[in-house]
Amino acid sequence: MTVDKNWLDKLPKVELHLHLEGSLEPELMFELAQRNAITLPFDTVEQVRQAYSFSNLQDFLDIYYQGANVLLVEQDFYDLTWAYLQKCHEQNVVHVEPFFDPQTHTDRGVAFETVLNGISRALDDARLQFGISSQLIMCFLRHLSEEAAFATLAQAEPFLDKIIGVGLDSSERGQPPEKFSRVFAKARELGLLTVAHAGEEGPADYIWTAIDDLKVSRIDHGVRASEDASLMSYLIEHRVPLTVCPLSNTRLCVFEEMSQHTILKMLEQGVCVTVNSDDPAYFGGYMTENFVALAESLNMTEQQAIRLLKNSVEASLASEQRKQQILEMIALLPADERG
Ligand code: HPA
Ligand code: ZN
Repeated sequence: MTVDKNWLDKLPKVELHLHLEGSLEPELMFELAQRNAITLPFDTVEQVRQAYSFSNLQDFLDIYYQGANVLLVEQDFYDLTWAYLQKCHEQNVVHVEPFFDPQTHTDRGVAFETVLNGISRALDDARLQFGISSQLIMCFLRHLSEEAAFATLAQAEPFLDKIIGVGLDSSERGQPPEKFSRVFAKARELGLLTVAHAGEEGPADYIWTAIDDLKVSRIDHGVRASEDASLMSYLIEHRVPLTVCPLSNTRLCVFEEMSQHTILKMLEQGVCVTVNSDDPAYFGGYMTENFVALAESLNMTEQQAIRLLKNSVEASLASEQRKQQILEMIALLPADERG
């Protein structure tokens, strides 16, 4: 029996791999462009959606950075984050650990504080209004220099109470994690946790160096781990979580078809895999849609959905108390809905 969308919608969910800039829907992009008197290279929302056809990560990144140009003042960052959190509320996402890319904005002259304050205010409001807990992760753009990453970390220093950790995103090929070993060491000295995108388009070796050199708490994507048997054993033995993003992987041609996706195979092998949306405005869906895609194309069972979700709770950076609360929410589902 296939799992139904309504059941997946009701399931309390946790999102660990979400770029706030990637949740910018074309409608809000137009609204912000108008508000900020910015001319977009598109006339309609439909034209924007039509442009969202990518053959690899770089294709997507070019459009994603262009879209972020409409974000200028604190209210823009608030509205962006709030729109995402409203979607979380609709889909019963109860805990989120979003990424933001400060360099995308500071390089355009937007102050670091402007970005962080807008995002933080929306996260605070969602905690109060929706009961959604959150931990914010600041990413460095790996196509930029180590020096630029150090400068960004310095800008963040006065605000470390608002940031739980640092991550690494953008173009992966030719940009190995070890390029940022010293920046990540400094971040850890400052008490920050670390995560990194690795093994999305890049080789399994990048997953090793993210673990060994950057001391990450989890790997973002990591699907290419399956090419290295000893790495798979390590991930399983040490419960290193992977934040997998099924719709992203098919939209960026990491897998040609959803039916070829390896997430459930990895789950059955004992890897701590989790389901996430990455850049939902660009890839055709939020959390529920990602779970639905697995049900439709891979025959995911209710039990597998629950195990994926429990992995997300385990992999999250939430307090132990909050993790227990979320596990209790899952346990409280009526028996026929628990799978
Ligand atoms: N990979 C790397 N960088 C990114 C991504 C991604 O999937 N999304 C936004 N920035
Ligand atoms: Zn990502």
